[in-house]
Amino acid sequence: MSDKLLYALSRPFLFSLDPETAHHLALPALKRAAACGLTSLIPRPQPDPRTVMGITFPNPVGLAAGLDKDGAYIDGLAALGFGFIEVGTVTPRAQPGNPRPRLFRLPQANAIINRMGFNNGGVDAFVANVQASKFYQNKEGVLGLNIGKNADTPIERAADDYLHCLEKVYPYASYVTVNISSPNTKNLRQLQGGSELDALLARLKDAQLRLADRHMRYVPIALKIAPDVDREQINAIAAALIRHKMDAVIATNTTVARDAVKGLPHADEAGGLSGAPVFEPSNAVIRALSAELKGALPIIGVGGILSGKDALAKIEAGASLVQLYTGLIYRGPGLVRECAAALRTAR
Ligand code: FNR
Repeated sequence: MSDKLLYALSRPFLFSLDPETAHHLALPALKRAAACGLTSLIPRPQPDPRTVMGITFPNPVGLAAGLDKDGAYIDGLAALGFGFIEVGTVTPRAQPGNPRPRLFRLPQANAIINRMGFNNGGVDAFVANVQASKFYQNKEGVLGLNIGKNADTPIERAADDYLHCLEKVYPYASYVTVNISSPNTKNLRQLQGGSELDALLARLKDAQLRLADRHMRYVPIALKIAPDVDREQINAIAAALIRHKMDAVIATNTTVARDAVKGLPHADEAGGLSGAPVFEPSNAVIRALSAELKGALPIIGVGGILSGKDALAKIEAGASLVQLYTGLIYRGPGLVRECAAALRTAR
């Protein structure tokens, strides 16, 4: 049975469940399927290698962070044909996240609102999961490890949490993502502002160079930013990324804006909105970043990709690679191949 047919058959059932329950059923099922070799029946996209951040990606379509916060499902997700897998966000210590319900579907808008709040088992369990994956052990592909701060760490000490996680995940990562753009951790996005960003990037760069020496391997760092930034902020972020020699920027995370979903069920839930409504705002950020960065560092485009055409639009806006999350929920794993095919044929 093809993965498309399997998805078409299971979607009505999964969508009849509370979204977080569906998540907790689908991922372990995928893991079991991978463990018994069933996922090898899923057709892989044709190779379309791209070198970005000094890493060769087998194809330019990646899994965005947040689907596999603990890195517990890497092998199953890798079987879906992604050119790279980003797992996390992980924090130094385990934390429960926000109370449920905290995940909402807005099917009329092909959107999701989430206020998960970095629920995760902490960085030590995360690293153990990564080490246990065949994907890591057999060096099967590109693995991004996404790091954050604990909810109860004061924002003035945020950099300590990022550095703690960076040290722990560094030896196992193809690249590390520094997530300062979740709307669900109080004051986190404040780190995107002038002096805070400067101080954080300086410490990250310093640690990265030290770790590169220690492990005899340079691991690139990408900064993940929000779509809710104006042109002035984008210019300041771009300048800081260049000044601190960051390796990439991921644009974007979810939005706190609600104009595009006004009046729909769940539209007033607090949290970050993803999927179709964030497509254009994210593209606008990518275009502005691209104009400012002028190729100094690459952009990874994410937000609202629901078709191959959408993936192509991200590349046309200035991205070198793309990532998906919400599209995977609404369109199923066939979307990975559709996006990879669209980007390959457009080359
Ligand atoms: C996310 N996203 C996210 N990003 C991140 O850097 N760390 C995280 O832990 C999470 N968690 C998370 C949970 C849920 C339920 C969703 C829907 C999203 C953001 C995600 O990686 C992506 O940037 C946005 O969702 C926009 O892309 P899509 O979903 O529109 O393709």
